[in-house]
Amino acid sequence: MRASDGNADVFPDLDALSHAAAEACVAAAREAVEARGSFALCLTGGSTPRPLYELLAGPYAPQVPWQKTRLFWGDERYVPPDRDESNYGMARAALIDRVTVPEDQVHPMPTDRDDPGEAAEVYEKTLRGFANRWGAGTPLFDLLLLGLGADGHVCSLFPEDEPHQQGDAWVRAPYGPPRHAPRRRLTLTLPALAKAQNTLFLVSGEAKREAVRAVLREGDPEMPATHVRARQSARWLLAGAAAPSGVAR
Ligand code: 6PG
Repeated sequence: MRASDGNADVFPDLDALSHAAAEACVAAAREAVEARGSFALCLTGGSTPRPLYELLAGPYAPQVPWQKTRLFWGDERYVPPDRDESNYGMARAALIDRVTVPEDQVHPMPTDRDDPGEAAEVYEKTLRGFANRWGAGTPLFDLLLLGLGADGHVCSLFPEDEPHQQGDAWVRAPYGPPRHAPRRRLTLTLPALAKAQNTLFLVSGEAKREAVRAVLREGDPEMPATHVRARQSARWLLAGAAAPSGVAR
């Protein structure tokens, strides 16, 4: 399932989008636990998902099987967790410190190595370990959350990346473009993202409208989001101004 084939739902604002995303997370968790006895959720960074994480820690918390949930990240800024830019730090504050997910089921991308490339290898080993344990028929992530940059980036896969940089690796340590500080990142690659059963894009704000249109209406190959694949479904939740005319179902 290509992301650019994905179905899109439009909501009046980020709050309504976040409630729909929370309901999608609850449904995905229920489906995964029934099918496989556990729920692997890959979190996205940036600012858009914070209201969702707060809802999952609040009114929706009783509906999520936290003891059977395993958390991963799609990308990370290469900074300590206590820095405001940390995607892990944001998720800890908004969600993880407020729910009962076991600590040994929380898998942040490591940012404590001198060499980010070594950190990428460590995280790849973690992911491949789970993939090998679970078997080829099992998705690596039951639900993958993704944001979208105004330039069409997902995770820390940017339009400037050379196709050769993709390769077979599941985790890379790119040096992003100047407009996206901190520039040193860790990111899942397209092959890793494609191991998700279901992918949910959370996109809000007028600044994203052109990127959404380029991906969903044109399948623009220059946009990394266009190349995202999912095993089963790719769904877009768009808040108001992020939705170009004619993309909603
Ligand atoms: C990151 C994110 C990134 C994000 C987009 C949208 O580390 O920055 O993972 O891919 O999803 O840049 O960010 P906003 O939600 O802040 O607009």
